[in-house]
Amino acid sequence: SQPLRIGLAGLGTVGASVLKILQRQENALAARCGRAIRVVAVSARDRKRDRGIDLGGFTWFDDPVALAKSAEVDCVVELMGGSDGPAKAAVEAALSAGKHVVTANKALLAAHGVALAELAESNGVALAFEASSAGGIPVVKTLREALAGNNVSRISGILNGTCNYILSRMEQEGLTFEACLADAQRLGYAEADPTFDVEGFDTAHKLAILTSLSFGTKIDAEAIHVEGISAITPLDLRMADELGYRIKLLGVAERTKTGIEQRVHPTMVPKASAIAQVMGVLNAVSIDADAVREITLVGPGAGGDPTASAVVADIADVARGTAGLPFGLPVGRLEEPTRAPMQRHEGG
Ligand code: HSE
Repeated sequence: SQPLRIGLAGLGTVGASVLKILQRQENALAARCGRAIRVVAVSARDRKRDRGIDLGGFTWFDDPVALAKSAEVDCVVELMGGSDGPAKAAVEAALSAGKHVVTANKALLAAHGVALAELAESNGVALAFEASSAGGIPVVKTLREALAGNNVSRISGILNGTCNYILSRMEQEGLTFEACLADAQRLGYAEADPTFDVEGFDTAHKLAILTSLSFGTKIDAEAIHVEGISAITPLDLRMADELGYRIKLLGVAERTKTGIEQRVHPTMVPKASAIAQVMGVLNAVSIDADAVREITLVGPGAGGDPTASAVVADIADVARGTAGLPFGLPVGRLEEPTRAPMQRHEGG
């Protein structure tokens, strides 16, 4: 059968890792998918930056929208980021042109996920976004596929690697917030604008996607109460420690009697709890569901290779033709979300 021809838009930390994994696993992926996966075109803001990869064999596009429309591309992999602007334009152009899209862009999905899913559905193509939430942890496929026989009542977790890395190092090494953030940026964990990480917006974007998948509702990012970690001091962490707690930035979504409650805020968690053991750039997601009861997934939530692992899984789904509906339901079957009034909560 014909190879799947990929156009890759965005060559940052994750994009470079995707190229390396596709090269390294070329034969295994071809065997697993029953066809070859071939990157044919790339686009990025900076053409000259040394990424340690030979880009000579690919058609270069300065404009990601032109790449998205290119007749030599079957599937666009969008790794540019940003909720609007070129990323949105490229994804819309690709879907409208009948091309599959794989994206890691949680900000885009939180703002426009339902409309984009509708566009994918009406064009009969896939929109896949495993990498958009919790990096390398396969939580999207878990909710959409593995838990298809369940009613989910609650989902919660650590969804931002940068914040967990910062809080862990501040606690363990007594370092300042600023020093830890600078390291997270250097290691390629943080967003282009780290305000998204430390003020809780990145967690909120991911939570909005997971809430929709958990409850079969339309994305309602604006309903999320958001508070970040930038005001947390080493003294707060020491005080929590003395009382037997750690501070984690949690995202929580719950179905309550009055509707769906979604919130992101620093939370005191007992040191003996499972969530308190999750240190460093790891993420963790706990799901309460009627049949499976409770499951917790733990793994790397940011960084090039772990995030690329999820991107490549989606590319493999597209190559095999098993990508499925973006939210596991036709868009017309997604419920209008009812917002629960915010309650005061103790602990996670
Ligand atoms: N900046 C994000 C994080 C990257 O730190 O978790 C993954 O979305």
